[in-house]
Amino acid sequence: MASMLNFYGRVVLVTGAGGGLGRTYALAFAERGASVVVNDLGGDMKGVGKGSLAADKVVEEIRRKGGKAVANYDSVEAGEKIVKAALDAFGRIDIVVNNAGILRDRSFSRISDEDWDMIQRVHLRGSFMVTRAAWDHMKKQNFGRIIMTSSAAGIYGNFGQANYSAAKLGLLGLSNSLAVEGKKNNIHCNTVAPIAGSRMTQGVLPEDLVEALKPEYVAPLVLWLCHESCEENGSVFEVGAGWIGKLRWERTLGALVRQRNQPVTPEAVKANWTKICDFDNATKPQRIQDSVSTIIEALSKIDSSDGGISANNLSHATSAAPSGLVEAVGYKFPPFSSSYTEMDTIMYALGVGASIKEPKDLKFIYEGNSDFSCLPTFGVILAQKSLGGGGLAEIPGLSVNFTKVLHGEHYLELYKPLPNAGDLKCEAVVADVLDKRSGLVILIDVYSYSGKELICYNQFSVFVMGSGGFGGKRTSDKDKVAVAIPNRPPDAILTDTTSLNQAALYRLSGDWNPLHIDPDFASLAGFDRPILHGLCTFGFSARHVLQQYADRDVLRFKAIKVRFAKPVYPGQTLQTEMWKEGNRIHFQTKVQETGDTVISNAYVDLVPTSDTLAKIPSEGGDLQSNLVFEEIGRRLQDIGQEMVKKVNAVFEWHITKGEKIAAKWTVDLKNGPGKVYRGPAKGSADATFILSDEDFMEVVLGKLDPQKAFFSGRLKARGNIMLSQKLQMILKDYAKI
Ligand code: NAI
Repeated sequence: MASMLNFYGRVVLVTGAGGGLGRTYALAFAERGASVVVNDLGGDMKGVGKGSLAADKVVEEIRRKGGKAVANYDSVEAGEKIVKAALDAFGRIDIVVNNAGILRDRSFSRISDEDWDMIQRVHLRGSFMVTRAAWDHMKKQNFGRIIMTSSAAGIYGNFGQANYSAAKLGLLGLSNSLAVEGKKNNIHCNTVAPIAGSRMTQGVLPEDLVEALKPEYVAPLVLWLCHESCEENGSVFEVGAGWIGKLRWERTLGALVRQRNQPVTPEAVKANWTKICDFDNATKPQRIQDSVSTIIEALSKIDSSDGGISANNLSHATSAAPSGLVEAVGYKFPPFSSSYTEMDTIMYALGVGASIKEPKDLKFIYEGNSDFSCLPTFGVILAQKSLGGGGLAEIPGLSVNFTKVLHGEHYLELYKPLPNAGDLKCEAVVADVLDKRSGLVILIDVYSYSGKELICYNQFSVFVMGSGGFGGKRTSDKDKVAVAIPNRPPDAILTDTTSLNQAALYRLSGDWNPLHIDPDFASLAGFDRPILHGLCTFGFSARHVLQQYADRDVLRFKAIKVRFAKPVYPGQTLQTEMWKEGNRIHFQTKVQETGDTVISNAYVDLVPTSDTLAKIPSEGGDLQSNLVFEEIGRRLQDIGQEMVKKVNAVFEWHITKGEKIAAKWTVDLKNGPGKVYRGPAKGSADATFILSDEDFMEVVLGKLDPQKAFFSGRLKARGNIMLSQKLQMILKDYAKI
């Protein structure tokens, strides 16, 4: 059995609680443990006169039943005093039910100034004064429940109640805004439009109906809306006789009555009247964003209404692909260059969650690390400029409505590891345009070159919502399609909690969309708060795969494909679920807190281990330094013992070529007779030296002093760097080349 809703510890203020509905609310709250302030001015139905009897009687009734209540006789216009009564008696205020009301019914032309003002003052201003007095207390305690009392007369209009209707619908507007403002402080505001027998409805409703429509049938809704477990906020309910219904707005699809650079005319409105009023396929807007975005969408449609194919036009085209698409497919964006430094590489790695808490991540965030590498997914940063800066708007034959654009899917393939810093030339082309019925997909291929060498390829699948159904093709051989995950529990799961600053950090890599940082902008786009970049989640997931299945070796990364399914909020925990199928790692990413899948149908293709050497820049095979190490090895066979005694250390060399580590060598002058071998030290090295093949040769040939090389940054050293003094001796005396 569901547990009984109670209000122990809660302080409830009910205005106009001396009779009718208010009295019933007060009794019901008290019966369920609340401390109640019974407010009532005690005047007549028109708001004339005052007295304490009404409130006192209800307080007396509550106390008789063992409940807690105090009376207050102020008019609701003195809101501060009434809330003070609650604070004085019970020390807090949790719930306000704005219920007090009067009637001054008159047909419209007979409404006097006083009739108008009195009604507005008691209903609208009174509710405002009481609620405002309680508001800050609610904010401070991070809890509040507020009820506004509207009326069917306000919602639908009623003869002889223009003053009352205006005030009653005003209360709904007040409630709607308080719901928006209070939400973040757990203050919920809802509105009821009751119907019940009371002195107010006597004479309006037939006698037997007044009897039948008991206020007790209304009170339970008010209690539920005021309970701490009720999440309802910003809603309006009609209630009576034991029936409760929720109301909402409905809006026609409407019609555009203006063309670009043209005035709107009454004739155009008349011509479109049927469409403007046609509720077929009506939408149900809920928030102000739904209103604003419609207007922005209309603007963008109008902007593109004189030439080209607008999203609007596309949705009405029925058969073969519109001729504009012929122009769009194959369109080449102006070439652009993407240059970046080691700092950009590091900033990106931090943006996608690489962290010093994982010592092995240092290779992505510390340029001095011997294996410093650029994360493969940085490749998308190089290419994204093609879409930014209004790039999409330049596509001929297509006019894209930016409010409807989503980055639906992404594919990235690397042909070489990304340099740690560089200047790449990028060429972007519209590979195809697809009709997915619910939207249109633009496939944009971006090729990035270092000099003439192709380094990476990106495919952006840009989804334009609501612009499909133009009879275009659904698939394309150009499309890098997403692949479903295997039907079994994941083979591995890695999680990472994003920081609250994750989007603020990630955007520094070049995606400046305010949606990810500006709460007002995010709210306009319909989000509670700024969301994380989809490509940030993409970076987290790829990092997880690389960590789990490739020991963070960027040479093993070949390609990645993802579908963006849902937004992530900074601070949430990303959980990458992975399945290994040969060299393909299927994955999907979820938000741990909600269980929502945010990246779906994704995979990373890895290079088989044996092929990774081939990815090392080709010069790696014929490094001059190789000859030196081989020679040192040969010499050691004769004098190894002696050297081991003199030096007693293990040295590791990382020889670089064009920013990448091309070879690792170990000279072991510590164990046994000494040994030189290719690869990292088996066991630990006492010192590691990182320098280019050319500089190594200069040191060997005595043209470059190792100490000077160190201080000028050409030689990097880790471990016991004092041992570098012995470098000269080893290299010069034993290389002999
Ligand atoms: P009611 O007349 O029995 O109760 C209203 C109470 O408010 C009275 O006790 C009155 O003394 C008090 N009040 C009036 N002015 C006040 C002021 N300035 N300060 C403090 N208290 C004041 O009427 P009923 O039917 O219980 O109405 C309650 C609310 O429900 C009202 O806001 C009314 O407009 C609304 N309503 C009622 C409907 C019905 O079918 N009973 C229909 C639609 C709305």
